Order: sequence, then structure tokens, then C-alpha cells
Amino acid sequence: METRRLGRTGRDVGVVGLGAWQLGADWGDVDESDALGVLRAAVEGGVTFIDTADVYGDGRSERLVGQVLKSHEGLTVATKMGRRVDQAPENYTLENFRAWNDRSRQNLGVDTIDLVQLHCPPTPVYSNDAVFDALDSMVDEGRIAAYGVSVETCAEALTAIARPNVASVQIILNAFRLKPLDEVLPAAREAGVGIIARVPLASGLLSGKYDEHTTFSADDHRTYNRHGEAFDVGETFSGVDFATGLDAVRRLTPALSAGTTMAQFALRWILDQPGVSVVIPGARNPAQVTGNISAATLPPLTNDQLAVVRDTYDDLIRPQIHDRW
Ligand SMILES: NC(=O)c1ccc[n+]([C@@H]2O[C@H](COP(=O)([O-])OP(=O)(O)OC[C@H]3O[C@@H](n4cnc5c(N)ncnc54)[C@H](OP(=O)(O)O)[C@@H]3O)[C@@H](O)[C@H]2O)c1
Repeated sequence: METRRLGRTGRDVGVVGLGAWQLGADWGDVDESDALGVLRAAVEGGVTFIDTADVYGDGRSERLVGQVLKSHEGLTVATKMGRRVDQAPENYTLENFRAWNDRSRQNLGVDTIDLVQLHCPPTPVYSNDAVFDALDSMVDEGRIAAYGVSVETCAEALTAIARPNVASVQIILNAFRLKPLDEVLPAAREAGVGIIARVPLASGLLSGKYDEHTTFSADDHRTYNRHGEAFDVGETFSGVDFATGLDAVRRLTPALSAGTTMAQFALRWILDQPGVSVVIPGARNPAQVTGNISAATLPPLTNDQLAVVRDTYDDLIRPQIHDRW
């Protein structure tokens, strides 16, 4: 698989990684054998970057990733911390960081975590020097090799990129979320900060497999967070109203190359954006992983295909989305 430098981590990773939220909770039932099958399909298919978080299934995702880490060399694992407590800026202290990090290291079975990301912290956290001094201390203590941030907004990303030791920024970037192209990707490239593109399939909308009759189980955020009831609504369908998303997918469909799925088209579009280090589609079974990995070997999209994405965004999505994140 093509590799790219993951910003200031200094590591090279395969361009298609794996998002491991599905291996924790919030996506309906993903049993242990499917979860381990997802991880196995990923590493066997050439994935070298896995994104998890301490909060996914309250540690289940980290523990499953830890099982794979025991038997595979050359993986880069990023976890996240900060969302197991109230979302108050005063909780972002060195003492808490150490405690959260001890738990994640135990779950993952490692002494040093490759990359730890603040997990969409409250906005004032990005402007607090003490937070970043504490993260520098975590590196000095050998608990983490590098740190980054997972952000909600482009403004937060730009604040983080200006910090000298932020290695990577994780941000929603997909065919329904184009705003990071304006300023965030150019700033990250200029600063040498890695970009981890999350929610690349708009929570599955950009797989093209849903229609007006699709339902999701009660314990799936696509049921219980459709209006932001549990966390930022941007994390569910990328903040796009479901019916609008279906319309937009129908407009994209004629632009697919023969033999390419909508999911592969959507992932390829992300990989073609200058400044992207790695894309992290989530998956609930091995077949999804394998399909997603093949986006890495597709040719770049044509100008006509890129124009269809842009026009669809401008006509249908931009009015709902562009000024919000
Ligand atoms: N705040 C944060 O930092 C944050 C927030 C969100 C996500 N993330 C990270 O980003 C990762 C990716 O985002 P995401 O998982 O939310 O959304 P996503 O990758 O946009 O969508 C994942 C969903 O797409 C569908 N899918 C995946 N591959 C497919 C394929 N080949 N064919 C058909 N359908 C396919 C599956 O839906 P079905 O379940 O319907 O099959 C899957 O559950 C997460 O796993 C997590 O690591 C981080």
C-alpha cells in the first residue's frame, strides 16, 4: 500500500487505515469474532494505522487492538483521551492525562503509545499553553511518542496546527465535508502536521447502500444521535440530514468508474486531496475492510469526477454544513 508521512510523528503509514470505533460500541452489535476479523483483515490487507479511543466501548476497542498489537510488527496505533469525564477545560491536567494514559497503555499492552489525541476537547483547551506543556511532559516521560488533536471545527484545527509539537490533526473530511480544503489542509502541509481524515463515508451514507427505508438499531448512534442528542451531531452522517444525504449520493452515483463502489470512490476522493496523510474508514466486518483498502490502488479521480463532487456539495450540502464546523 502507498505510504505517507504522518506529520510530525515522523512515521510512515499506509494511506488507508482503520477506524476502530465500531469495535467498541455505538454501532449496534459487532461481536468479538467480527471485531477480531476486522482487525485481521486490516493488517493482512496492508493497513498499518489504526485509530481507537479510550471511550470506545469503555476500553473494549483498545483491548481488541491490543490483541493484534501483540502479534503484528510495524503498526502505528493512535488512541484518544478526554471523553470519559465531564467536558470541562479544567479536566485537561497532567495528573488526569497520566491516569488516562496508564489505562490506555494497559488496554493496548504497550509502554509507549505511538500517538495520543485529545478527543474533541472543549474549544478553550486549544488556547491553553499548560495543556500542551503537559502533553510535552508526557512525551518526555516516555508515555507517548507523539500527540495530536481530534477536532470538531476548522478553527480548532488551525489553532492546533500553530502549536509547535502537535504531530497530527484528525478532522472530518469527506465528499460531504469540504471546508477543511479551504484553509486547514494547506496550513497543515505548510507546518508539516499530519491530517487524519475521519468519518470518510459519512457514517456509511457514502457507501450508497442506504435508502429511505433503512433503519438502525437502538444502540446505534445513527438512531440515537441523529440530532446531536449524545454528542456533536457532526459525528453522525457528518451532520448531513439523512434524506439530503441520500439525494446527494444519487447525484454522485453516475460519476463512478466501472467496477468501483461508492465507498471506494468516496475514499479515493479523500486520498486525492493534497495534505491528507491517512483516511480511517470504520468497518463492522472483514469484507468492508477489504473493499476499503482497495481504494488505495485506484487511479486518482478525473477532473470531471472531482467536479461532480464539488457541484453536489455546493448545491445540496453546503447550505446545511459549511458554516457549522
Ligand atoms: N471525535 C472523534 O475523534 C471521532 C468521531 C468519529 C469517528 N472517529 C474515528 O473515525 C473512524 C471513521 O469514522 P466512522 O466510523 O464514524 O464513520 P465512517 O468511516 O464514515 O463510516 C463507517 C460505516 O460505513 C459503513 N462502511 C464501511 N466500509 C464500508 C464498505 N466497504 N461498504 C459498505 N459500507 C461500509 C459501515 O456502515 P454499517 O455499520 O451500516 O455497515 C461502517 O460502520 C471511526 O471508526 C473512529 O476511529 C473519531
